[in-house]
Amino acid sequence: MITSVSEKFNHKFNFKHGLVGAIAIDKTGNPLPTKTLDLCKSADAVLFGAIGDPKYDNNPSAKVRPEQGLLAMRKELGLYANVRPVTTFPSLIDKSPLKKEIVQGVDIMMIRELTGGIYFGKPQGRSEDGDTAYDSCVYSRYEIERVVKLACEYAMTRSKKITVVDKANVLATSRLWRETAISIAKEYKELSMDFMFVDNAAMQLIQNPRRFDVIVTENMFGDILTDEASVLTGSLGMLPSASIGLSTSLFEPIHGSYPQAAGKNIANPLGTILSVAMMFDLAFNLKNEAAIVKTAVSKSLEADYVTEDLNRAHPKSTSDVGDWIADYIIKN
Ligand code: IPM
Ligand code: MG
Repeated sequence: MITSVSEKFNHKFNFKHGLVGAIAIDKTGNPLPTKTLDLCKSADAVLFGAIGDPKYDNNPSAKVRPEQGLLAMRKELGLYANVRPVTTFPSLIDKSPLKKEIVQGVDIMMIRELTGGIYFGKPQGRSEDGDTAYDSCVYSRYEIERVVKLACEYAMTRSKKITVVDKANVLATSRLWRETAISIAKEYKELSMDFMFVDNAAMQLIQNPRRFDVIVTENMFGDILTDEASVLTGSLGMLPSASIGLSTSLFEPIHGSYPQAAGKNIANPLGTILSVAMMFDLAFNLKNEAAIVKTAVSKSLEADYVTEDLNRAHPKSTSDVGDWIADYIIKN
């Protein structure tokens, strides 16, 4: 697909591949080898495959885990904001577990803080006797400011409505989020900002998802709410994301790995393909290239040329879908 974009628009993309996650642990013992990190740092953009391996999921005492590779990469590259657009495709509306009247027209920009909070807070660990475990949720004003600002900028290009999701009735970090967001909002006079507790947000995403436009939230709430939001569109396999970095940005589908599909050529490639569209747009400012990739994806859905998660009866393979999209790009 990238090859057909470079052919059509006369670009040359230089690819370099690096190991991360389970395969990197198997080969080097380190989920994020220095060689991979250096490659990422010197790249203009990073395209990330999905991470996770059941052999580690089922072993709580594993010392190194594939996910540490992704978390280290987020931290090392300063990927402070994860941007996950949740849009519905008209041709998929019947695949949504929710009623058509509820999901039709949903268009939410979910922005998740990605390098702070309980994912990275110290201390984290176990007591000496092993019977107590602890994680810490830590946020500084600066970490909140930069992601809320980015979210406000997105909101300004959309309906100028932003919802800050927190748990300020319980958590001190959430109260700092609220205080900080309120002071940032003063810089955006035209913007209307509202606040919602995360439990309520989880409910409203199902009951009335159209009430949302831009949502900004902390790391773990964002992790959970974006998975929830992704099924509004009919398949977790569909959603792309961009992780905005201090210099290099990273693009990845929001789903994890799909080990049951390994070697079977059945996984839905659209989340990854749409992540490439986001990469063209945000990392390279290639708007037409991004647009044609998105159109090609919509057309493949309209043609019902899709993998088995979207069409059990007559599925196409991963590579068939990829080839169809590549071909559409060349011909249109
Ligand atoms: C995601 C994933 C990751 C996360 C995992 C794989 C560590 O669920 O990108 O949403 O929790 O951030
Ligand atoms: Mg997640």
